[in-house]
Amino acid sequence: MDYKIALIPGDGIGPEIVREAKKILDKVCLIYGHSFTYKELLLGGASIDRHGVPLTDETIADAKASDAVLMGSIGGDAKTSPWYQLEPSRRPEAGLLGIRKALNLFANLRPAYLYEELKAACPLKEERIGAGFDMIIVRELTGGLYFGKRETAEKDGVMTAVDTLTYNENEIRRIAVKAFDIAMKRRKKVTSVDKANVLDSSRLWRKVVEEVAKDYPQVTLEHMLVDNCAMQLVHNPGQFDVILTENMFGDILSDEASMVTGSIGMLSSASLNETKFGLYEPSHGSAPDIAGKGIANPIATILSVAMLLRYSLDLDKEADAVEDAVRQVLKDGYRTVDIMSGGCMQVGTVQMGDLIAERIR
Ligand code: IPM
Ligand code: MG
Repeated sequence: MDYKIALIPGDGIGPEIVREAKKILDKVCLIYGHSFTYKELLLGGASIDRHGVPLTDETIADAKASDAVLMGSIGGDAKTSPWYQLEPSRRPEAGLLGIRKALNLFANLRPAYLYEELKAACPLKEERIGAGFDMIIVRELTGGLYFGKRETAEKDGVMTAVDTLTYNENEIRRIAVKAFDIAMKRRKKVTSVDKANVLDSSRLWRKVVEEVAKDYPQVTLEHMLVDNCAMQLVHNPGQFDVILTENMFGDILSDEASMVTGSIGMLSSASLNETKFGLYEPSHGSAPDIAGKGIANPIATILSVAMLLRYSLDLDKEADAVEDAVRQVLKDGYRTVDIMSGGCMQVGTVQMGDLIAERIR
């Protein structure tokens, strides 16, 4: 089959990791007889440098015209990069939020899985890891604090900043349905995370999630307060199957979940709308401190390729092949520096890409 893939290398380590991910797509083509047509799009700092804005209509149109989008990362060092001299709505991150909204990518799936081979890189004690863990965070991506009205202004002579957290029941329902659908294909447990002891938006969240749960009698639903969830993730990560949560909580908890898998360099993500279309990106940022050094871990992006094959192109066999190749490379003892441990062989970004591509069967 012939597919159109939009590539957004972005900023920082983005171009390096997307180059390796493309290598994987090319190998999948070769072995499974598909053809991928690529188009590179600008977003974030790269777009600011060319067009003065972090997101253009052209990038949105090209993304929409593709079957799926693969992204690296956007953003730079807030202290030194000229992008951060611009007003907030013209900075790199505004481009990412803008494309998520423009493409209606309301469902962000972030799987956190502990590979047997990476147990040594997991910062938790053996007894906490237990039999390992395999969870997926379903994060609402187009609402909440990220998209509410914000303002910084002087009020009664005092500088005052306001951000607003809004959710309507329809936004909550559609992400809850996604989470329950996913749970049905897994261990059938949803942990809905909120702050219902304080926030109105969380109380509505809870109510709507409970309504949705009635359509899924086989799924066990539990509610957990976000502060407790942060604690439980390092106390007993094995208890989680599907974590359903709003935008900001999901941002924070997914970084935490990634770290217990050994490294944020391992966590892939898919951002989906109501159709098969999606934008796939590692959960980590652009890591400007290591950009250009050839040491970034490309695995989160390569696992995002597997998600792209599975969710947008329905190529399950090919997705399995990519995931198997990653598992095999870890089994064979290759590590980038972020997941390095004694007795393993340390490799750079390009080598890791080559080693995984070689293992695709
Ligand atoms: C993420 C990132 C983004 C977010 C930033 C770059 C705006 O942290 O994808 O998790 O907060 O959503
Ligand atoms: Mg984040």
